[in-house]
Amino acid sequence: LQIESFQQDLVGWYEKEKRDLPWRKSKDPYKIWVSEVMLQQTRVDTVIPYYERFMEKYPTIDTFAKAEDEEVLKIWEGLGYYSRVRNLHSAVKEVKERYGSKVPDTLQTISTLKGVGPYTAGAVLSIAYNQPEPAVDGNVMRVISRILSIWDDIAKPSSRKIFEEAVRKLIYEQDPSSFNQALMELGALICTPTSPSCLLCPVRDHCCAFQEGVQTELPVKTRK
Ligand code: ADE
Repeated sequence: LQIESFQQDLVGWYEKEKRDLPWRKSKDPYKIWVSEVMLQQTRVDTVIPYYERFMEKYPTIDTFAKAEDEEVLKIWEGLGYYSRVRNLHSAVKEVKERYGSKVPDTLQTISTLKGVGPYTAGAVLSIAYNQPEPAVDGNVMRVISRILSIWDDIAKPSSRKIFEEAVRKLIYEQDPSSFNQALMELGALICTPTSPSCLLCPVRDHCCAFQEGVQTELPVKTRK
């Protein structure tokens, strides 16, 4: 794998083909954070109107920190997984009180916030602060398992570290934000779970699974 050529092909494709999604209009770490929490267990098409309503009502850390619990649950209604919004609300209040309403910009500090696991931390640090941190969710594990032909079981919690380390070695340090979003976008548009569009893939020349003809056998995922 020629890393530099892979990075150029991937990020070049992303810059040209990326979807016009509402959370891509801003680099505000708060907005990126809210979008990533919504997107964790919910599809993009479902999230869009919720995200728009949320940002109209709570455009800043301070407006959301002041909101009543009842109102916060109401705006989330229909998205499900309500612990997400309860954690987000308490974490935002902590950011207001403890960090002067600035979302922390280090892995150590942001990871202490309620509900902020390795994925959310990496997504906010890379997308909003342009730090070279991996943001590995199930979609990114699928893409990386194919590009590098990694046969570790993605259902195992211990596999996450393998994939994070793999992304660390590949990440485009000049633009970690575009690089991580490009991996997500490739997973959503091209490198899909059951029938990936390899003939349209901007990085198929770099993809070990495609060269070996095993793209539909990856990722390995045992039932949990
Ligand atoms: N899924 C998770 N994060 C995403 C993002 N920032 N853009 C599109 N899909 C995503």
